[in-house]
Amino acid sequence: MARPKIALIGAGQIGGTLAHLAAMKELGDVVLFDIAEGTPQGKALDIAQSGPSEGFDAVMKGANDYADIAGADVCIVTAGVPRKPGMSRDDLLGINLKVMKSVGEGIKQHAPNAFVICITNPLDAMVWALREFSGLPHEKVVGMAGVLDSARFRHFLSLEFGVSMRDVTAFVLGGHGDTMVPLTRYSTVGGIPLPDLVKMGWTTQEKLDAIVQRTRDGGAEIVGLLKTGSAFYAPATSAIEMAEAYLKDQKRVLPCAAYVKGAYGLDGLYVGVPTVIGAGGIERVIDITLDKDEQAMFDKSVDAVKGLVTACKGIDGTLA
Ligand code: APR
Repeated sequence: MARPKIALIGAGQIGGTLAHLAAMKELGDVVLFDIAEGTPQGKALDIAQSGPSEGFDAVMKGANDYADIAGADVCIVTAGVPRKPGMSRDDLLGINLKVMKSVGEGIKQHAPNAFVICITNPLDAMVWALREFSGLPHEKVVGMAGVLDSARFRHFLSLEFGVSMRDVTAFVLGGHGDTMVPLTRYSTVGGIPLPDLVKMGWTTQEKLDAIVQRTRDGGAEIVGLLKTGSAFYAPATSAIEMAEAYLKDQKRVLPCAAYVKGAYGLDGLYVGVPTVIGAGGIERVIDITLDKDEQAMFDKSVDAVKGLVTACKGIDGTLA
């Protein structure tokens, strides 16, 4: 059977890391696409030359023509401009909306059967716009945010408790950014919910609140340190986890920016929710009952996403 084809739209920091990870995990052959001439070709060649030492079989190709993504099984989109220090994800809106238009049209024409994972920020609005421009089924277009946000939460929690990150689970909802909603009662260490760990004296509510805030600010903390760009190792790893779930029909339960219609009382909006990813794409949105405080935080997050979508419609009349 032919290897799956993975198209990476955007060959910058995240795109290059995605290509390297996809190759090392032998998820398929990789096409790196970018408008910058030479960059995708150079990265593809460099990664291909790591193959003999690493021992993977994958064809790596760089491209500046959408025709080269033809028939892709998975497209991961990072094309656009990343945040600079002091910029919010929302500042990126106008610039990256134009990019989503060209990417959406390219995917529509050349890879209409792909599972599409969007990483470009501001995430919840960009994945919505990409779906609109591409016209693909909603269950085949998804945004990567929750896997990364929960990975950050798990990392900070593992440091606080002095336990393996593997034994920490985390549950986050809502938009990607300042309004994200980490749900502590569904986040656990070895199955023990965080509020119980507070009662057991493993940590304090104040420390937990600080960890939640650090998780919300997780991207900005890295932007502040790097100064010339935003995070790329963990974002790429998170998207590869989602791509693998689709390609191998793993039925993974992963938090993603998915199209929600009906669940959570929403009438058609991309927002972070727990999902099941398998060969059908987003096969299920897991609808949980929120308590009063959680619902208030979720509503605030949903309003922020709706505001961005409205702003997109104001910028590009074809989306209205
Ligand atoms: N089509 C294709 N590629 C494009 C386009 C376009 N219209 N416009 C820009 N690009 C390419 C750039 O040439 C660059 O190589 O997108 C790439 C983006 O790479 P980086 O600037 O290194 O950004 P990166 O760190 O990979 O982040 C990409 O992900 O997390 C988000 O906020 C982040 O939106 C940003 C995206």
